[in-house]
Amino acid sequence: MTKVLIATDKPFAPIAVKGIREVIEEAGFELGLLEGYTTKEELLNAVADADAVIIRSDKADKDVIDAAVKLKIIVRAGAGYDNVDLQAASEKGMVVMNTPGQNSNAVAELAFGMMAYYARNFFNGKSGTELKGKSLGIHAYGWVGKNVARIAKGFGMEVYAFDPFISKEVIENDGVICVGTVEELYKNCQYISLHIPSNTQTKGSVNYSLLSLMPGKGVLVNTARAEVVNEADLLKIFADRDDFAYLSDVAPANLADFQAAYASRIFCTPKKMGAQTEEANVNAGIAAAKQIVAFLKHDDRTFQVNK
Ligand code: 3PG
Repeated sequence: MTKVLIATDKPFAPIAVKGIREVIEEAGFELGLLEGYTTKEELLNAVADADAVIIRSDKADKDVIDAAVKLKIIVRAGAGYDNVDLQAASEKGMVVMNTPGQNSNAVAELAFGMMAYYARNFFNGKSGTELKGKSLGIHAYGWVGKNVARIAKGFGMEVYAFDPFISKEVIENDGVICVGTVEELYKNCQYISLHIPSNTQTKGSVNYSLLSLMPGKGVLVNTARAEVVNEADLLKIFADRDDFAYLSDVAPANLADFQAAYASRIFCTPKKMGAQTEEANVNAGIAAAKQIVAFLKHDDRTFQVNK
């Protein structure tokens, strides 16, 4: 029987697993479940007899792909697929897909949760500040960026965006100020929210020269990927400016160094949790299951990312 495996180090909400199971079993396939695994060995063993796999940020590297001798498709239930070795998958003829947009509202809401938490001094009771009237720069205007813009307007923020791949019309249609350069974004905005993917062009691209353009009381919010921010430059900005803050769902590698020196200006979630809502898990998980069924039954490759 065709086997679809859910392999999630960070488990989906039970309601999402139930929904995925229904889609898979209705299609006449069998569902396997590997959740909260702690060793790579467990993943290598679990993929060995799977025809399809649903993952989240789980690493599908060459070892995993080589061990998955029957695997035809990997679906990353989420947006970023930097955790999948696309080349290794393509060499084996495997299709890789993501589920764009399905978890984007959850990630956008977390960005505001962190901003409000910091603006109110981590809820310590002392007088804080409001988000209303403050400038917010959205660095990359994809699904999450679009949701960030919608919520920011509810807060009464002045919203800017930079994205070289999205037309000015699309951004302006949402009532967002479109800037032509990334420098302009950082110069204009007290808050910057990162939504760039992690790839060879973006790794380390949020660097000292960009961050130093930010106005007073600059706050960098990262719900994207840790490595898009140049960590050495981030430390340098913290040292240079006692008004700069970093709020992140993806902790820097040397978080302890930041916390030891700048505890009042840094906040990181204990574990990446932007997409960790029942709604996002249901949306992304069920979309992944349906994409697998459509691919295995009808060769539908709509969301393939390794073309
Ligand atoms: C994504 O790329 O979709 C988000 O970063 C969420 O990742 P997660 O599924 O590991 O929570």
